[in-house]
Amino acid sequence: MRRPVTILFAIIVVVGAAAAIYFLKPVNGPERNLSLEADVTRGNYVMRVGGCVACHTDLKNEGAFLAGGAPLKTPFGDFVPPNITSDKEAGIGDWSLEEFSRAMSVGEGPGGKHYYPAFPYDNYALMSDQDIVDLYAAMMATDPVAEKAPEHSVGFPFNIRLAMLGWKNMFFTPKRYEPNPEKSDLWNRGAYLAKGPAHCGACHTPRNMLGASDSGQHFKGSSGGTGGSFVPAIDPESLASDGWDEATLTDALTGGFTPDFDTLGGSMGEVINESLTHWTDEDLKALTTYLLEGE
Ligand code: HEC
Ligand code: HEC
Repeated sequence: MRRPVTILFAIIVVVGAAAAIYFLKPVNGPERNLSLEADVTRGNYVMRVGGCVACHTDLKNEGAFLAGGAPLKTPFGDFVPPNITSDKEAGIGDWSLEEFSRAMSVGEGPGGKHYYPAFPYDNYALMSDQDIVDLYAAMMATDPVAEKAPEHSVGFPFNIRLAMLGWKNMFFTPKRYEPNPEKSDLWNRGAYLAKGPAHCGACHTPRNMLGASDSGQHFKGSSGGTGGSFVPAIDPESLASDGWDEATLTDALTGGFTPDFDTLGGSMGEVINESLTHWTDEDLKALTTYLLEGE
């Protein structure tokens, strides 16, 4: 005789298996052309634009360059940006270009390790093939540091990496930046930088309960910055109503004063010191053009 409990159990198993098959499909983005010629100098610039240094270096404790960062505190636990120096054991020195490209473009490391979105690969996926090839060359040219960074401290169920494949199926569609033909080259360069490598939205766009950026709220600010800090809105309307223009934005984003005669601090201070102060004037102009004009 079949008891209702057995039938219920069977239904749960079937639905669970169907959900697992649906949510655990492999995630693959568009193919990349990785046969381009690499330029280490450009790659070092991409590394600065991408803010890799700010996260992967323990700045407060004067940790070694890219040898592992301070823990990122999130509602899901503390994530420690790992050692990404060229050390073959503790870092990524034995990675191929294909493996590196896969990590940056679909958030998957060697051996099918699915990354947490605390590593902003949903932004890096938008990067051009040339930027990925150059960045890889620069990563392989960094000084090796033989010490591994500490492990993450993340509770159940978020400590199950395979769950991140389910997360990707729900929230992540890898694609490259697509230029808007109605906008200028300068605007497009700015949009590429802001949404792709410079990942401004990783902090300035609110996230849902499962940590995915809410694209309907692009740049609308968030109360869930690192450690629960407040991150202001930087959409064109908010910037205009706060009195920002091209000159004040350029100043503040390179360490100068805001319209209120303050300076930007906290995690934005690190973005400024470790990334924006290294940008070319042309890229800063592209960024401010995109920010002030908006989509
Ligand atoms: C907001 C912080 C942050 C930024 C910015 C960031 N990363 Fe990471 N990165 C992380 C975290 C956290 C992880 C660990 C993810 C995990 O374990 O799932 C990680 C993991 C990685 C890995 C995988 C390493 C391994 O051993 O598996 C690589 C490669 C990497 N990052 C490269 C980069 C590069 C290159 C940049 C700059 C373009 C960058 N990251 C910028 C936080 C960041
Ligand atoms: C790691 C998180 C993080 C990232 C990445 C980030 N920001 Fe910020 N940003 C902040 C925080 C936090 C503040 C508030 C700083 C303060 O008030 O001292 C801020 C403030 C700002 C402000 C001032 C806004 C106002 O009205 O006060 C601007 C403009 C800004 N960010 C632009 C950017 C741009 C452009 C990018 C991408 C290149 C970016 N941010 C990337 C965290 C971030």
